[in-house]
Amino acid sequence: MNIYKTIAETKKFVQHCHQNQLKIGFVPTMGALHQGHLSLIEKAKTENDIIVASIFVNPIQFNNREDLLKYPRTLDKDAAMLQQVGCDAIFAPSENEMYPEPDTTVYEFGSLAEVMEGKFRPGHFNGVAVVVKRLFDIVQPDNAYFGEKDYQQLQIIKSLVKQKNIPVTIIPCPIVRETDGLAMSSRNIRLTEVERNVAPFIYKTLLQAKEKANQFNPDELLHWVINQIKSQPLMTPEYFEIVDATTLLPISNWNECEHAIGCIALFLGSVRLIDNIGLK
Ligand code: PAJ
Repeated sequence: MNIYKTIAETKKFVQHCHQNQLKIGFVPTMGALHQGHLSLIEKAKTENDIIVASIFVNPIQFNNREDLLKYPRTLDKDAAMLQQVGCDAIFAPSENEMYPEPDTTVYEFGSLAEVMEGKFRPGHFNGVAVVVKRLFDIVQPDNAYFGEKDYQQLQIIKSLVKQKNIPVTIIPCPIVRETDGLAMSSRNIRLTEVERNVAPFIYKTLLQAKEKANQFNPDELLHWVINQIKSQPLMTPEYFEIVDATTLLPISNWNECEHAIGCIALFLGSVRLIDNIGLK
């Protein structure tokens, strides 16, 4: 497995793959890898000849400086994990390599970027779009893999690809959970033991919400979930929204859309966690 730090080396590798008609599957990450990330690599391996992962903690998608500073950086361990699952190349650039000059591109995603995460993390999705567009230009993948854990991000990337006519197929991958239901996240290691012990309550609540979906209308269900989360002393809900799975606009009636999804963001202690569940 090769680890490339520069755009030039990565482009050379990509060119070699294309010359040999090898299909490239790409998994962009910010590192601190866990089984959730590895599941994307595993899926990519079944559909491509060459797997490229990127590891880059993208400063411009963090709207909270402390979150950026605290973001775990574990490149050696990540590389070992990627090698083990059969990744062929890692692109792990420095900040200067990625942004020799500030990139001030402004993307337009309409309401997709304004609801939920967009409301609470202004500028976040623009930062994601800027880096993913750059990564796609460098890696030129045939397929790119994104987790449904970051459901809104997935919709934003699909919109980016459509708007910019990028010749890549976006492949959504299901959420990987710990055995107790907590969605895997690089941030989970920042939970204290006490916080980690109550964390499964989030998914438990989402599962209960799914069961209650045929008894309650979306608005009632929304309040039920918020109240459940509030009842946990260590948890502070930021939002729970029930939205159309395609437009991400809130629904007030179950028959307003084909598929509905419930998305939650909350603080557990000082750690911000997100999760979601299909409700219809
Ligand atoms: P990161 O948080 O490292 O996530 C990389 C990819 O792994 C994303 O597509 C994310 O949805 C997926 N992922 C994370 N946890 C998962 C889980 N438990 N189950 C399934 N997939 C999971 O998302 C980013 O990085 C960045 O925003 C990035 C796209 C790399 C741009 O900087």
